[in-house]
Amino acid sequence: MKFSFVGLKTPSFQCIMSMFGVPMWQRPIARGANRPLANGKKGGLADAVLLLSCAHKFLAAAGSFAPALRSDINQQGRPAMSSDQLTRRGLLQGSAAIAAASPVMAQAAAAAPPKRNGGTAMMPVELTVNGREVHLQLDPRTSLLDTLREHLHLTGTKKGCDHGQCGACTVIVEGRRINSCLTLAVMHDGESVTTIEGLGTPDKLHPMQKAFIVHDGYQCGYCTPGQICSAVAVLDEIKAGIPSHATADLDDVSLSDVELRERMSGNICRCAAYPNIIAAMRDVAGEKAA
Ligand code: FES
Ligand code: FES
Repeated sequence: MKFSFVGLKTPSFQCIMSMFGVPMWQRPIARGANRPLANGKKGGLADAVLLLSCAHKFLAAAGSFAPALRSDINQQGRPAMSSDQLTRRGLLQGSAAIAAASPVMAQAAAAAPPKRNGGTAMMPVELTVNGREVHLQLDPRTSLLDTLREHLHLTGTKKGCDHGQCGACTVIVEGRRINSCLTLAVMHDGESVTTIEGLGTPDKLHPMQKAFIVHDGYQCGYCTPGQICSAVAVLDEIKAGIPSHATADLDDVSLSDVELRERMSGNICRCAAYPNIIAAMRDVAGEKAA
């Protein structure tokens, strides 16, 4: 006796088989009763067994829809859907239940790397922060900003957006200003970091800190540590002749307001202390405000 599955090779049937976790090789894609199967046999009883196997999986999976359908009763006590009104949500719930039991998923879980220490493999990181060497064991996903604030308790560096958009987290690493929220601490192993706490102290202020006070370069002060770190590094950039987008003459990087504003454009001040910040920078650079 031969079986013909010509009617079973439609895409919708294949989709249903795929949805219910029937492996490709088990799906009856028939091009006629004598099509070759994966096990080398042709049609006949083997095909019948496959069909029954698929039908069994289909019915078992359909059974798992029932709790989802039953639980979807709305507050008025009316069923949100009936079995002949299968909704997208019911379908997804059923699919999720099937996927959870799928042997393919089980294989993937078995292949996942073993977890250690509650799923976190710590890494040793050495930094020189404000002239002090620190040795840390960190989750490799820890940002430099969180390392400074949460592990070293240097809360002068602020977290504004945590997305590299506000500049509140600016620190100086190896002489260059960076957004510490956008970089991982493990990427700076062995490097030196300067935060606002390392620039000056209340008793011995850095010239830029003094100038911000003199020129009223802040109001709420939230952005100020980042502004000051950035301003200090900007003056060093200009002194080193590093051009910016606003540099007109690459052989003469000037201290114009346009130049300073462009270079400080990554540091946002919600209180809009910008003109005073520029005045403070000019003061420190030994130039009069324009
Ligand atoms: S907190 Fe880093 S740029 Fe905003
Ligand atoms: S001083 Fe308030 S955000 Fe800049």
